[in-house]
Amino acid sequence: MNHFLDIHKTDAADLRGMIDNADAMKQARLGRPKAAPDDEQPLAGRMVALIFEKPSTRTRVSFDVGVRQMGGQTMVLSGKDMQLGHGETIADTARVLSRYVDMIMIRTFDETILTEMSEYSDVPVINGLTDRTHPCQIMADVLTFEEHRGPIAGKKVVWAGDGNNVCASFLHAAGQFGFDLTFTGPAQLDPEEEFMGLARQKGSRIVVERDAYKAVEGADLVVADTWVSMHDSQSAKERRHNLLRPYQVNADLMSHAKPDALFMHCLPAHREEEATSEVMDGPNSVIFDEAENRLHAQKAVMRWCLGV
Ligand code: CP
Ligand code: NVA
Repeated sequence: MNHFLDIHKTDAADLRGMIDNADAMKQARLGRPKAAPDDEQPLAGRMVALIFEKPSTRTRVSFDVGVRQMGGQTMVLSGKDMQLGHGETIADTARVLSRYVDMIMIRTFDETILTEMSEYSDVPVINGLTDRTHPCQIMADVLTFEEHRGPIAGKKVVWAGDGNNVCASFLHAAGQFGFDLTFTGPAQLDPEEEFMGLARQKGSRIVVERDAYKAVEGADLVVADTWVSMHDSQSAKERRHNLLRPYQVNADLMSHAKPDALFMHCLPAHREEEATSEVMDGPNSVIFDEAENRLHAQKAVMRWCLGV
């Protein structure tokens, strides 16, 4: 049994295997109706709990559809409607759920909730986003990059904006998949030093560049995310917008990257804030492929967790 808690906590060869498996499963389904079952049904007879303590569109739907395509069943649970949201401990919740379901995916706030869940659960636990990381998203992003441009190893990725949870998982992936990452954003919103250090230890070139135009020079991929994440206080919104405005990904900024540089955004986006519609809907944008690939990547993650 494997938990999928974070990219840097997962073996690099296993991560590569998941991306290849995701690609194979995607190819095998080409042109088929969304609800058609996969030829293989590795989750037949399995029940998966999907717990959400924060809103979600992509994570909720892609996990639910993915489990069903593989022959399993899901139950989608809202944290606030569970006893978990009314004082029951994470440890007790994990032990109880382990008696009913075969796997747990949880989207939550502090990452200690996720780690405690995994410590007390007898079934695999998957990180569906915490305040600190979002590994399933970056598995989809690696799959998406490689579909369009071939191996991501050795490429230059530029993260523009807030050094947030999605950025953290990109840094983890840099170390594990062997690409370089330049962060461009205000010093107040730098990614965690620990995560930059981990990627550097694995041999990735991790650069912090305050000038967005310099940062994107030679970029193969430019990535943006919302300026205010779900866990950020709304009262910080105006200050964050003021800090982050120079890092908006627009056509002018993209024109300083490589001509074929891709643009990614995990979505949901605030159009005309962190990125313009001209870029989001432009020829180098792969944002909807990223969203689709959540489905394929997570199916591979779930199979790895269950060893099926
Ligand atoms: N990208 C992502 O995780 O989207 P949701 O918040 O809609 O799940
Ligand atoms: N950084 C964003 C990602 C949403 C998928 C958030 O945490 O709100």
